[in-house]
Amino acid sequence: MHYAELADEFLKDHRHVTRRLSRILRSLKQGEVEGAVEIAKELDTLAGPHIQFEEAVLYPEVARIRGRGYAQRLYREHRIGQTALRALLNEKQPLSEERLTELIQQFKVAVEHAASCGTLLSHLTELPDLRQREMLKMLNTFVEQGTPWTRLPPPPVVRNPEPDAPPE
Ligand SMILES: [Fe+2]
Repeated sequence: MHYAELADEFLKDHRHVTRRLSRILRSLKQGEVEGAVEIAKELDTLAGPHIQFEEAVLYPEVARIRGRGYAQRLYREHRIGQTALRALLNEKQPLSEERLTELIQQFKVAVEHAASCGTLLSHLTELPDLRQREMLKMLNTFVEQGTPWTRLPPPPVVRNPEPDAPPE
C-alpha cells in the first residue's frame, strides 16, 4: 500500500534530477558553462535527499537482489556525479578545454546512471508494507533535512567490485 506513495515521491524527484543532469550536459556540450553552473546549483539542492535515499535505503535492497557488484557500480557512478558537480560549482572559470571535456564525460555517466536508476525502485514492490512505510519515512526525513548533494559524504569506493549475481 505504501509502495504507491513511495514511488510517487521518489519518481517526482527522480524526474527533476534527471532533467537537470541532462540540461547540464547539454549546456556543457554547447560550451555554455555559466548556464550549466546555474542549473548545477538547483541540482545540488534537489538531488541531495534523493541520492541520500538511494544510497542508504534503495541500494542495499538492490545489492540483496541484484548482487553487491551491481550495487557497487551504482555507488561508484554516484561518486563520479558528485565529483563532477563539485568541480562545476567550485572550479575557477573559465575551464580549460581539457577540464570541460572531462566534466562532459562525467556528466554523461551521471545522465546514463539516472536513466537506469529510476527503474530500480521496482525492487521495493515486494517488501512488506511496514518496511515500505519505514522507507517512505526515511525519504521524507532526508527531504526535510535538505542536505545538498555536494555536502553528502562520498559513497565508498570499492577497488575490486564483486561480480554480479547470476540471473535467477
Ligand atoms: Fe542513483
